[in-house]
Amino acid sequence: TAAEKGGYDSFMEKEIHEQPAAVRDTLMGRLDENGNLTLDDMKIDDAILRSIDKIIVVACGTAAYAGQVARYAIEHWCRIPTEVELAHEFRYRDPIVNEKTLVVSLSQSGETMDTLMAVRHAQEQGAKVVSICNTNGSTLPRESDAVLYTHAGPEIAVASTKAFLSQITAAYLLGLYLAQLRGNMFKDEIKTILAELQEMPEKIQKLIDNEQQVKDLGTSMKDADSVLFLGRHVGFPVALEGALKLKEIAYIHAEGFAAGELKHGPIALIEEGQPVFIVVPSPNGRDSLHSKVVSNIQEVRARGAVTIVIAEEGDEAVKAYSDHLITIPASPSLLQPLLSTVPLQVFACALAAAKGYDVDQPRNLAKSVTVE
Ligand code: G6P
Repeated sequence: TAAEKGGYDSFMEKEIHEQPAAVRDTLMGRLDENGNLTLDDMKIDDAILRSIDKIIVVACGTAAYAGQVARYAIEHWCRIPTEVELAHEFRYRDPIVNEKTLVVSLSQSGETMDTLMAVRHAQEQGAKVVSICNTNGSTLPRESDAVLYTHAGPEIAVASTKAFLSQITAAYLLGLYLAQLRGNMFKDEIKTILAELQEMPEKIQKLIDNEQQVKDLGTSMKDADSVLFLGRHVGFPVALEGALKLKEIAYIHAEGFAAGELKHGPIALIEEGQPVFIVVPSPNGRDSLHSKVVSNIQEVRARGAVTIVIAEEGDEAVKAYSDHLITIPASPSLLQPLLSTVPLQVFACALAAAKGYDVDQPRNLAKSVTVE
C-alpha cells in the first residue's frame, strides 16, 4: 500500500533512501568502548580463524557482487587468498575445500537454495561457514557456524539495493575483524578505517539529497536499448551491479566490464550514441588507476559513446570528457562502492519507472529463489 511505501512511488525507491540507515545500523553495536571491533556472533574459535588459509565467498545475484567488492578489501587487509564464486558454480566444480577454508555466504534472504547447497557442500569437506545475512533466523544463518547479520531491515523490492550496501559493510567488518585477530594490521589502522566507515552514511545521504539529476537522466534515457558500464578495481563489481539493476527492472540489455578489458574486446561495441557509464576511482587513490580510467573515458568518447561519468567531487580531470557528470563525495578507495552504487540504483529505478514498469515486481524474477 501507499502507506507502506512511506510516500515513495515504489519500495525500491524507499529502500534506496533507507541506505544511510542500513549502513549505519549494520555498523552499530559492533565497536566496543575502546573503538575495537567486537563481533558477538562470531562463534568460531579464534584458533581456527587464525589457521584458515583461504576464504571462499559464495552467493548469487547482487550478493555475489557485494562479495566481489569485499574480496579487494579482505585480501588487502588480511592477506588471505579470497575467491568469490557464484554458489551454483562452486557446488558443482569439485572445489578444493578443507578445514582451513573459511566459507562466507552472502544472502539477503538467507533462503537462496543455490547458496545453501554450496554451504552444505563446503561443510561436508570440513570448512567453517560464516553467513552474512539480512533475515533473522533464516536457513543459512541457522546452518552456519557463525553469523553476521546485516541490519538493513526488510527488503521488499525484488531488485536488491540497501541489502547490497549492508552486505559490503558487514563483509568489511568481517575483514577487519580477521585482520585484527590475525595481527595483520595495527589497531590504529583498523580504527581509522572504522571511523571512515562511520562517515559513510552521511555521504550516502548527501548523494540521495542530490538524486534529482540522476533521476532526470534516467527518465531522459528511457528509450535506450543498450547501456554499458565500466569500472576498475572495486568499481568493476559496481559496474556489474549497475548493469544488473538495469536488466532486472528496465529489461534493457546492459553489460558491465572491467575498464582494463575494454581494449581486449568490448571497445568494438562502441558506436555513435552508445551510452557508457564509467565509475572513476578516486584521483587520490593508489596505483594510477584514476588516470587509466580517465583514458578509457577518452577512448570510448572518441568512438562516439555518450559518457556518463561517476567521479569524486573536485575531480577536474574527467570534466572535459563527461557528457554527463555525476559527482560523489570523496572517500577512501575501498569504500567508494558504498557511494558509486547509489546513482546506478537511482538511474535504473527512474528509467524503469519512466517506461511504466512495476519496479518492485519485475517480470520473471522472484525476491528469493528457493529452488536449485
Ligand atoms: C534473487 C533476487 C536477487 C538476489 C538473489 C540473491 O535472484 O532476484 O535480487 O540478489 O536472489 O538473493 P539473496 O537473498 O541470497 O541475497
